[in-house]
Amino acid sequence: MPYLQPKGGWIELICGSMFSGKTEELIRRVRRAEIARQRVQVFKPAIDNRYSVNHVASHDGLHYEAEIVEKAADILAKLRPDTTVIAIDEAQFLDWTVADVARLLADRGLRVIITGLDLDFRGEPFGPMPLMMAEAEMVDKLHAICVVCGAPASRTQRLINGQPANYHDPVIMVGANEVYEARCRDCHKVPGRVEALGRDA
Ligand code: TMP
Ligand code: MG
Ligand code: ZN
Repeated sequence: MPYLQPKGGWIELICGSMFSGKTEELIRRVRRAEIARQRVQVFKPAIDNRYSVNHVASHDGLHYEAEIVEKAADILAKLRPDTTVIAIDEAQFLDWTVADVARLLADRGLRVIITGLDLDFRGEPFGPMPLMMAEAEMVDKLHAICVVCGAPASRTQRLINGQPANYHDPVIMVGANEVYEARCRDCHKVPGRVEALGRDA
């Protein structure tokens, strides 16, 4: 594997729609790092308290202890000197400084694992994720299963009272399967979206 270099840090990023197994994959990698006797710290933004305040948690019930950060710079403040691996879950909710923090730590020789939504409910890039996707050495896009047609799902549908949420609704809305479902491009609906073909022409 190209990322298993004997020295030097790197950024590996795991993205995809909700219910695609991002946090599950993060926990898998963190557990394996611990078996390899690495010193690991896991962080998550304060905003996401869905399943637990001080754990990262997958929709399937897996969880792992995490430190809460209000802003990306807090990660540097909380970093222990002997840490060799850091993981950040739900990175789409952090401020854009998170990309600088990831770069700084990778440059210092740490392994940096980032997970988050690549796209918001509108199907548009979510916060700092695209920046980190560009910079990461490795990017994995995971897929859920479209609940409408059974195809691989790349998008997250937000439903308000069972109806697709409007394009102009606020981007941030914490929740799980009471508001969101995984869908493929074809089944993903965003009323109010203006088709952007030729927008910059
Ligand atoms: P998950 O990727 O671990 O399933 O969690 C995604 C979180 O992001 C969840 O709390 C819902 C939230 N969210 C938004 O705030 N806005 C969005 O547009 C989408 C798709 C999810
Ligand atoms: Mg998750
Ligand atoms: Zn579909």
